[in-house]
This record gives sequence, structure tokens and C-alpha cells, in this order.
Amino acid sequence: KKVVLAYSGGLDTSIILRWLEDQYQCEVVTFTADLGQGEELEPARAKAEQMGVKEIYIEDLREDFVRDYVFPMFRANTLYEGEYLLGTSIARPLIAKRLVEIANETGADAIAHGATGKGNDQVRFELGAYALKPGIKVIAPWREWDLLSREKLMQYAQTHNIPVDFAKTGKKSPYSMDANLLHISYEGGILEDPWAEPEESMWRWSVSPENAPDQPTYINLTFQQGDIVAIDGEALAPHQVLARLNQLGGDNGIGRLDIVENRYVGMKSRGAYETPGGTIILRAHRAIESITLDREVAHLKDSLMPKYAELIYNGYWWSPERQMMQTMIDESQKVVNGEVRVKLYKGNVTVVGRRSDDSLFDEAIATFEDDAGAYDQADAAGFIKLNALRLRIAANKGRSV
Ligand code: ARG
Ligand code: SIN
Repeated sequence: KKVVLAYSGGLDTSIILRWLEDQYQCEVVTFTADLGQGEELEPARAKAEQMGVKEIYIEDLREDFVRDYVFPMFRANTLYEGEYLLGTSIARPLIAKRLVEIANETGADAIAHGATGKGNDQVRFELGAYALKPGIKVIAPWREWDLLSREKLMQYAQTHNIPVDFAKTGKKSPYSMDANLLHISYEGGILEDPWAEPEESMWRWSVSPENAPDQPTYINLTFQQGDIVAIDGEALAPHQVLARLNQLGGDNGIGRLDIVENRYVGMKSRGAYETPGGTIILRAHRAIESITLDREVAHLKDSLMPKYAELIYNGYWWSPERQMMQTMIDESQKVVNGEVRVKLYKGNVTVVGRRSDDSLFDEAIATFEDDAGAYDQADAAGFIKLNALRLRIAANKGRSV
């Protein structure tokens, strides 16, 4: 028996590794991915080797992550509950896919992950895995074991020869965190009190707006089919775009969020997020769409966005309905080309210019000056009268509004 484990190299997943071997008498294959979380991967390899793992998968997935998951999602201007940019949610489908593929390659019959039984991540990993490999077995140790306190975990580590220094690599954060190229998230600790403001030192990627530079930063973003392909004229791959915008946004105090959200399992949860690059992309993308998309296409897209966001949040990336919506969203983006100029200043992203060869904006028609017959204002009287017809009929019948 063989199990593929999503392994970070930290203490928790190291304990899971040993626990799987003990409980299931199985061989464990580890999978560690670089999604841009900003941590070295080699220490995870060293730890897996030290734990006696024979098959170790270490992969740089930054390019795939941003190109095939983050960018397609941003084409829809996706926000969950109006605010959350889905930084963790959008990474899970890729991890699920790789877990399943590695299970196929290594002949493993199960996968395992370190998500708890109370959260969204378990749902996302497992829905993805079942969708891609219906017969896969899933092991979620947090739902099975009784190591529910820090002390019990430490004790387990000591009695099972898990090097204790695993716990001390860096000071243990008081928060449950998850980071990748799109965001860093914080949950737990003092955040469990929704009234408590996080201390300034919690934030890792951004300066506070108060401490951001007094001079604004202007950048020029080039879009092709809804994706940013260049910054200030320099062509960049999707993951490079996001890395650059994270830097620029973080330097200017952009992308901090503090919310209470509804988890799929039913509870409310308080989370803090830093999404500097994503916050800039969302603003700029809406600006380029504002001149290139037909009104009804834009409104229809917008009306479907909350549903699309919910699918991703709830773990249904690998579903027929998500694929159907993606096809529609991508179709709308064919004309979303052009440039947007934004100003970054003390936590704000302000769009200051937009232009496109595919622009539907017609200055001759829109002008407040003499339009030389481009638009006949007399037409508006009939347009309004016919639209008022049913309102007048009802009013004549004495129906009050
Ligand atoms: N609440 C966010 C979400 O559901 C973030 C989850 C963070 N996950 C973690 N393992 N720390 O997408
Ligand atoms: C977890 O419970 O493992 C993290 C939080 C979540 O998945 O929502």
C-alpha cells in the first residue's frame, strides 16, 4: 500500500507522514510544490529524506498555477462574498490534480492531506481528487487521530523520532497561514475574536498604507484577451506579472483585507489576507473591460460572477459547471485587449487611463459638445415613451407604486 502526501516539510505534515506509516502500514510518497509561497523547497527534500521517504516529488508549479488557474479566474473579476480574492481556494485544484497524477505514476492507491475536518481545504482537495480519479482513497489524519493539541503533537513527534528541530525552523507564527503567488492568509490566534484588530507585525507582504511612500507609483498594464502580458511595456509571463505586481502593490500598502466569511462546511470564519498583485489586476481588468466589452456581455458576466466565485470557494473547480462557465468567460475576453494606466498610492489602486484598438468608447457620440449628428437626441423621446408604456398603463389602472 502506498499513499501520496501533500507535504510542506513542516512539523504537522511530518507527523502526518509518520502517523500514516504507523496507522496504515503504508509507504508514503511526498509531494511538495512551489506555488510562490516564498519558501525554499530543498529543506523539505532534506526532511523527507531524513524521515526515510524513498519517492520524493518536489515541483516548481508557479508558472502553471498563475497561467492555468489564477489568470483564468481573474478574467471573471472573481470575488467571494464581494471581497475575498480566493488566494487559497484557487491553489487547491492544482494540488489535487498533482496528487492524483503522482498516485497514478507511483501506483499509489490513496492520497493524504493536512487539512482539518473543519475547513474548506479538505473539501477542495477531495472533490478535486474524486473528480479526477473516482476510485481514489483519501486519508485526512486530522479527522481521524486524537492529536488535537499542540502538546499531543509535540509528544507524538518526540516518541516517533521526528526531529524536533522541525518545529523550530523560524519562529512559529501564532496564525494558521497559507501563502502562494496570489496571497498570504492568516486565520486563528487573536483573529478568532472578530473585534480584535490584527497587530501591524502580522502582515508580511505589505507596508501599512500609513507607512507607504508619499509619492505615487504609476504603472502601465498591457492586456491581451483579458490577461496582463506586459508591465510598462516589458513582456512578462503570468507568474512574473503577478510577482512584479505583488512587489509594487506591497510597497504601496495595497491589498490588505480583514473579513468574516462563510465556510462551505457551515461556520463563519475570520480571516486576514494580503493580495497586493491580485487587487491591482482586478481593478485594471475591470477598467479594460469597461471600454472593450458590450454592455450586456459585461452585465451578464457580472451576474454570473458570484456563482463562479462560489464554485471555486466550495471546491468545484473540476466540475462540468465550472468548465461551462469558463468557456463562456474566455469567449468574452477575445476583445479584452489594450492598456490601462494605474496609480498606486497609500493602499489605493486608482485607474487613471485606458485605451484599446478594440474600444467601443466613441468620443463623437459621447461628447457633451456638438456631436455633428452622430446621435439624434430626438430619438430618445420615443425610446423613453415606449419604455414608459407599461408604467403608464398600470398607473392609469390606478395601481400605486
Ligand atoms: N479561508 C480561506 C479559504 O478558505 C483561507 C484558508 C487558508 N487555509 C489554510 N490551510 N491555512 O480559502
Ligand atoms: C483547515 O481547516 O485546514 C484550514 C482552513 C480551511 O480549510 O478553511
